[in-house]
Amino acid sequence: MKNFTSVDDIQDLAGLVALAKAVKAAPFANQELGKNKTLGLLFFNPSLRTRLSTQKAALNLGMHPIVMNLNTEGWTLEFEDGVVMDGTASEHIKEAAQVVSQYCDIIAIRSFPTLTDKEKDEEEYVISAFKKYASVPVISLEGSTEHPLQAVADALTIEEFKAKPRPKVVLTWAPHPKALPHAVPNSFVKIMKKADVDFIITHPEGYELNPEFTEGVTITHNQDEAFKDADFIYAKNWSSYIDYGKITSKDSSWTITPEKMALTDNGKFMHCLPVRRNMIVNDAVLDSDSSIVIQQANNRTWAAQAIITKILEDDGK
Ligand code: CP
Repeated sequence: MKNFTSVDDIQDLAGLVALAKAVKAAPFANQELGKNKTLGLLFFNPSLRTRLSTQKAALNLGMHPIVMNLNTEGWTLEFEDGVVMDGTASEHIKEAAQVVSQYCDIIAIRSFPTLTDKEKDEEEYVISAFKKYASVPVISLEGSTEHPLQAVADALTIEEFKAKPRPKVVLTWAPHPKALPHAVPNSFVKIMKKADVDFIITHPEGYELNPEFTEGVTITHNQDEAFKDADFIYAKNWSSYIDYGKITSKDSSWTITPEKMALTDNGKFMHCLPVRRNMIVNDAVLDSDSSIVIQQANNRTWAAQAIITKILEDDGK
């Protein structure tokens, strides 16, 4: 694996999940692999889980993680080629990516979408520019359109908690006061299409995700119908894709309640976190035994460790 910026970079999901399980069982078994190597984590946006779990994964592999909040601590970067840099940007990505490559053996980047410029967001202009100009592998810590490390943790969590060979998994939209990106649902859709599951998406009309991601997946606007006999409920808010980046509904009837969970087959509740209590999901669900969000967050470390392992192994060839 050269880069990991999309679920498309996974060749063998079952093999990757098996590797994540193996590193979870023996986290320090491969400390020589990362010895004297540096992982640079560059954040343009806030993070709790991704920031800590990816550092922990690097430490488990014997690497040295270094972290920078580029938006507040670095020079403002220019991403356009051929421009006269007489504005706010002090440094071009061409130099910045090459310079960071001198200090780091892998560069990991978090860069959220604008949610106003669909074309720019869909180009993944920040992560694409790092991939273009860096001379070392690049990992996405959540880009404009995908959050692939989260998706690997989600697949591992479903594998661990499934009680039948082919569980029913539901991705449901839920209300939120702010306009949120599509990266988590997009990557979850992609990874569920690779997994051995019955997968269904439910959301209000107008909240269709990019059809390039959802092609071939069953979609219903009837949340109760979708929840029937489900084994996993994955709740997430996203803003409108059609009316790009806008909130067109905050319909509280889509909040996940104990009554809705009762429609499932003793289903497990999942969310990538952070989660807005009593907006996305009621306290009674989040605090119940059906919630596996903490175990899901724990799996972020093992997902990241599996991906870094694959990159380091391939880099050494
Ligand atoms: N799920 C997730 O990516 O969490 P953070 O935004 O806190 O990293």
